[in-house]
Order: sequence, then C-alpha cells, then structure tokens
Amino acid sequence: MKIRAEATNIEIQEEEWENKYSVEDYFREGYSSLAELVEKIIKELIGKRILELGCGQGQDAIYFGKKGAVITALDFSQRATNSTKTKIKKFGLEKTVSVMKADISSDISSDPVLPKESFDIVFANLRLHYFDNKTTKRIFSDIYRLLVPGGYLFFEVKSTADLDYRKGEEIEKDFFNHNGKKRHFFSEAYLLECTERYNIICVQPKQYMSEGKLSSFLSACVKKPYLTK
Ligand SMILES: C[S@@+](CC[C@H](N)C(=O)[O-])C[C@H]1O[C@@H](n2cnc3c(N)ncnc32)[C@H](O)[C@@H]1O
Repeated sequence: MKIRAEATNIEIQEEEWENKYSVEDYFREGYSSLAELVEKIIKELIGKRILELGCGQGQDAIYFGKKGAVITALDFSQRATNSTKTKIKKFGLEKTVSVMKADISSDISSDPVLPKESFDIVFANLRLHYFDNKTTKRIFSDIYRLLVPGGYLFFEVKSTADLDYRKGEEIEKDFFNHNGKKRHFFSEAYLLECTERYNIICVQPKQYMSEGKLSSFLSACVKKPYLTK
C-alpha cells in the first residue's frame, strides 16, 4: 500500500469500499428497487445478457441470475467480488453469473472480455456518480458501445436534490469533494446530456435511507436506438 499522500484517487476510493465491505450485506440483503424496475420493463429475463457495473456484494447479480439471465458483474473491490463469488456458489449459479475485479473509470469498452454490442442490458445501481464530467461522459459512451442496438441501460445516481449537494469543495460543476468523498450530483438536465444518444424510457426522482441518511436519487431507464446515432 502506498503512503496516503501518494495514493491515487481510485486507490483512496477502493480502500473506502474495502472498509465498508468488511460488513456482510452492507447495503441490503435483497435486491434493489432498480432491479425491480428492470423486471417491470423487461418482463422476461431468461437468457438476457446483463453487464452490472459496481455490483457490490452481488445481491442484484444473484437476483437476475435466479431469473435466468446471464450476468457479467464488475466491481473494483476485492471484498465485494469475493462476497459475490460466495453467493454465486451458494446458489449454484456458476454457469450464468460471473464476477470480475475491474475499474470502470478506465476504458471498459476495450476490454477483450467485454466485446462491442454484447449486452442486452447494462445495469448500474449507484455507480455512475463518482467521476468528473470527462470520465462520466466516457463511461456513458463505453456503455453505448457495449449495448446491442435496442439494448437498455438502467442506472441510479445521486441527484442535486440530495442533502449533501453543495457540501465540501466544488471541483467542477456539481462534482464535490466532501471530506475526501467525491460525488457527482446529477440534475435532470445533466442526466439527459449524458444519455442524449439514447431514447428515454423513464427518469424518476427517488428518496430513501442509504447508509443511515435520507438521500435523493434519479433513477433512469434509457434505450439504445436500433438505428444508432
Ligand atoms: C454505492 S455501491 C453500490 C453497490 C451495488 N450496486 C448495490 O446496489 O449494492 C457502489 C459500488 O461501486 C464500486 N465502485 C466504486 N468505484 C468503482 C470503480 N471505479 N470501478 C468499479 N467499481 C467501483 C464500489 O466498490 C461499490 O461496490
């Protein structure tokens, strides 16, 4: 481990997540409300190829696996990927659910394990609000390349209605460093800017308790057009 002053932003964030994940099922035991939205919109998940970004301890990956989908789950935390592996074994989903340790802030669309247009659904629950504008836009275009035409992206991000919005130092517009935690708060206009190449299916404001605090989010489902832009 590097001394703290030399650690990169990603290493600091990784360490933060490793600490949180010393607690089993840190966020919740079951699936998320965003996973419920997937089922509502897609209805039949059997055989659907899903890429999950920032899978955490694997609750949603297992939920989709039990519904018959084929999941590739990524997270940069070793503890998160280990817990996901344990759950995959426990539920006998080795043939359909796989998990990899990967950093999504680097170019995931050039990873040979993730070929272009190879997923029907990309799913990112609370995972796309940690980056500056340039990295965020790059991740959205990586996702676009990974989805088949007609594929869906489901994601949930912290919104500008959150109580922590504007706390700490503003590094860039709506991107703050609050006590070492970097968060990008999405307005609806920014969410639409990031997804301008997609057809919008729904964008919903949400509020619920997360890590002991009432937090505000935007949750969205967007669809890559068949005739790509
Ligand atoms: C708020 S948690 C959500 C976890 C999970 N989706 C859930 O709903 O329980 C965010 C997750 O993203 C992961 N993460 C954060 N930055 C990442 C990065 N650059 N690359 C890959 N995973 C990352 C963290 O390890 C953590 O598991």
